[in-house]
Amino acid sequence: MCGIIGGICKDNITPILLSGLKRLEYRGYDSAGVVVLSNDNKLSRARAVGKVVNLETSIQKQSPKIQGSLGIAHTRWATHGEPSTQNAHPHICFDTVSVVHNGIIENFLKLKQEQKAQGYAFTSDTDTEVIVHSIHQALKTSESLLKAIQKVVKTFEGTYSLGVISSEYPGHIVVARSGSPLIIGISDKGNFIASDQVALLDITKKFIFLKEGDTADITLNSITIYNQNDRQINRAIKTSNLKNNQIDLGDYKHYMQKEIFEQPQAIRDTLESRITKDTVLLSAFGHHAETIFTNTEHIQIIACGTSYNAGLVAKYWLEDIAKMPTNIEVASEYRYRNPIVLDNTLLITISQSGETADTLEALKSIKKRHKNIHTLTICNCAESSLTRESELILLTHAGPEISVASTKSFTTQLASLALLSVAIGKCHKQVDKQQEASIVDSLNRLPGLIKKTLEQESQIIELARSFKDKFNAIFLGRGTMHAIAMEGALKLKEISYIHSEAFPAGELKHGPIALIDKDTPVIAIAPNDQLLDKLKSNLQEVKSRGSQMIVFEDEMSNVPPMKNMTVMSITHNLGRITAPIIFIIPLQLLSYHVALIKGTDVDKPRNLAKSVTVE
Ligand code: F6R
Repeated sequence: MCGIIGGICKDNITPILLSGLKRLEYRGYDSAGVVVLSNDNKLSRARAVGKVVNLETSIQKQSPKIQGSLGIAHTRWATHGEPSTQNAHPHICFDTVSVVHNGIIENFLKLKQEQKAQGYAFTSDTDTEVIVHSIHQALKTSESLLKAIQKVVKTFEGTYSLGVISSEYPGHIVVARSGSPLIIGISDKGNFIASDQVALLDITKKFIFLKEGDTADITLNSITIYNQNDRQINRAIKTSNLKNNQIDLGDYKHYMQKEIFEQPQAIRDTLESRITKDTVLLSAFGHHAETIFTNTEHIQIIACGTSYNAGLVAKYWLEDIAKMPTNIEVASEYRYRNPIVLDNTLLITISQSGETADTLEALKSIKKRHKNIHTLTICNCAESSLTRESELILLTHAGPEISVASTKSFTTQLASLALLSVAIGKCHKQVDKQQEASIVDSLNRLPGLIKKTLEQESQIIELARSFKDKFNAIFLGRGTMHAIAMEGALKLKEISYIHSEAFPAGELKHGPIALIDKDTPVIAIAPNDQLLDKLKSNLQEVKSRGSQMIVFEDEMSNVPPMKNMTVMSITHNLGRITAPIIFIIPLQLLSYHVALIKGTDVDKPRNLAKSVTVE
């Protein structure tokens, strides 16, 4: 969370910082700020609460203008201290040092007490302010800004990526990273830093991905990088294949809408080169995958949010198709307990960003404690912390996902997990050629099925109207559809702020049915599977309580029409692989259109951030 950008260039850097910040807003949008070193060597700062556009307006009004060739900027997702101008970054100490920070300094209270005793005044409630004071203090006895930063980062507990400038060192921007992402962008305009390549795509495609513990001293003509032991080191320059138009809205109104409609192509891209017309290629998972999968005896999945919901579906598939005992847990819980991890476990992390702190830390701590396990990540970002920490990598080729609410990353994760279930099943001789061919055929049909489902948008817009005055909603499903119900409920709550809960339909009578009344719509998913009759009985139970019901069914499910019930047929003959991936589509569209009716900020819902790089 929080996005940082900075750099040193030949021209005025302010417009570059502002345009980059806008692209980083997915990381947080509680406040934004910028500090630029002016030509008369003064740090000039502007900060504003809310989105970057507020900062831009405030800068336009500011006189003298904020301009210069060296600067840093930040968009914040509040952790310590409310969203306010005082708490907005960059922070400044004694008008000489300025810092932007992404992460959390866990020992900030102790450092704050020490610094207060030394006479430093605090103007914010943030943990970050101790960083700027520490650097100011260290500069008194250090020969350079870099040396001061290398000294102080050793006193920090927690996570950070930092961009630092000082009026005493004009022409230098110094960075450090540990636990939060940071990249360096190299362009003919100058050298830049950012939390993510997307911030700099307008000016460069050439990036250096800093590693854990790295620091770097950057000038207009040089980039000098040091590893965690402060030894100078070379890091490769990579050329990004991200295209600018991948992150532009085009004709769509919102990124969420664009990303929902990109799903047929995203699935095609994810499957490309990983399947033939009837087989799943084991090589897709990396050189050692076959040996690792063959030796795997248990699977543990860890993930958060939407990625966790994808993992829930995978648990069914891995046990059903590959006959592999599979557990799944949210990473934020898993990392803080002492789970029993059996030898020959394959630990799977699932993540869009590859930077989710809970998932990353859970992976690191299990790797430290258990030697006889292997790790695989299913991730959308090739150059991420999770891919670096994992032995096997399966990238979901969803393309950049900008909207805070995940959509195409979920369906591409599911497609990847279906490939994995077949691959592991093959290694354990649980999947024969016929079954494999049939699952591959289902996967190949997905883009067409999704496209057809998206064509039903106008009916979903009609359904969305009935949510205008609703405050609660209940989602029901059985088997993998319970996971889909959970994902549907997560989408609705995060972008329309309607309190939504999902239950396994059979569990309703054990308590949640007490919630049902005429003002609480119930959304049920009815695939034509072995649990259909059970689900129909559950729907009768709901109907008797007078609720408004919406049922998304397979045409072959033939859910009998009832009073206050709208049944929408999605398509027909969906199977165990296609059904979860197809049934989430109407739920994504429903949340999107309910959010439009409610008038919320669809792509940037309140209190959220796209990439949760703090605990
Ligand atoms: C919901 C959503 C979040 C993320 C979660 C994990 O729409 O986007 O629940 O799924 O924060 O993020 P990743 O997948 O990046 O690890």
